[in-house]
Amino acid sequence: MKLTIEEQSMLAGDHGRALRKAMEILVALGEIYGAECMLPVTSVQIAGVSYDNLGEAGLEFLQEMADGGGQARVLTTLNPAGMDLENWQALGIPADFAADQQRVLEVFSRMGVQVTCTCTPYLSGNTPGFGEHISWAESSAVCYANSVLGARSNREGGPSALAAALTGRTPAYGYHLDENRAPTLTVKVEADLKGTHAFGALGKALGEQLEKRKRRPVPYILGVPRASLEELKSFCASLATYGGAALFHMQGITPEAERYTPPSERLTITQAEINAAVADLDDAGAAEVDFVSLGCPHLSLDEISRLAELLRGRKVVKEFWITTARPVKQLADRLGYTRVIEASGAKFAVDTCCVVAPIKGRFTALATDSAKACYYAYAKNKFKTRFLPFDEVVQQALEPQRHGAD
Ligand code: F3S
Repeated sequence: MKLTIEEQSMLAGDHGRALRKAMEILVALGEIYGAECMLPVTSVQIAGVSYDNLGEAGLEFLQEMADGGGQARVLTTLNPAGMDLENWQALGIPADFAADQQRVLEVFSRMGVQVTCTCTPYLSGNTPGFGEHISWAESSAVCYANSVLGARSNREGGPSALAAALTGRTPAYGYHLDENRAPTLTVKVEADLKGTHAFGALGKALGEQLEKRKRRPVPYILGVPRASLEELKSFCASLATYGGAALFHMQGITPEAERYTPPSERLTITQAEINAAVADLDDAGAAEVDFVSLGCPHLSLDEISRLAELLRGRKVVKEFWITTARPVKQLADRLGYTRVIEASGAKFAVDTCCVVAPIKGRFTALATDSAKACYYAYAKNKFKTRFLPFDEVVQQALEPQRHGAD
């Protein structure tokens, strides 16, 4: 790889141990993928923040980087942690886990990383512009940044994202290069899609088709007349989970779609396939739902406002977690949504989510509108799942309404 004088001096250790290690990680990656040089990045998102995923070995690596003088050179934000940083006791998080999680966050903070703890950094201040090179490590957010924002990122791991934060560089390969962003497969959607649940089901149906191919295609999607921010965020999370996808183009919706014509290789996704994806994820059967969660990926302010409407004057009878980013929650506080939601008995689980929190063994069946949450609820915690539209998820948590006089 061709390195600039500054990059060579980082690699030689002139800027301290942490930068040397970081540059070694990036050069090794670049050599594996045939990168010719490094690119400057403007934004980093680090995943693998929950102590549940990191463990002591992961924490030691972070400590070494911090002790070696590592400091973030560009805006760097964090994925969800294993707990709500302010309200962990109310969520039943054990005190020893909370102490370990705090140690992780302190190390990140020492390195100048913003302790934001959200998988939707683009909704709370880390919003890269069109064409910007970034280094993100949250699969749903990478897919959103590449496809919906038109920024450029590979699917980074925790160490390579941290290395990019400390050096301000990433190797020039993959989705950073024009030639790898062109669509390779036309996907015609023949279905009526509405809501996060339907878009999540589309992500699963399409993702599983992509997964079968030898080379991961970049889909060019036709037949989706409109999609809201929330629907796209749900679709990105699902497509990344079931198909490992980091980029798609959607005609009339995503910003790079107009640069391209639909490729000749074609695939159709029908309503029947989407219905089958829903049925596959809605697998709780006779198991009674004892856990309800919305916010995978983290909820937008619009979704919280909808939730407040649905919960106004009602009481929930199940453990109900609402997961979002702290800045979004703070807006919800100011707008009065938090008061309405908490009066129902539902709980905000800020900075965390139903997948990365240490809740294995606490519940049997989860109700969610997120296809991604269904996947990990089973893979990580062996929960059964009810996969339902947003409003119906809320209904699962509520006590039945009495009708008429009694
Ligand atoms: Fe975010 Fe957790 Fe889902 S990190 S995308 S809410 S699994």
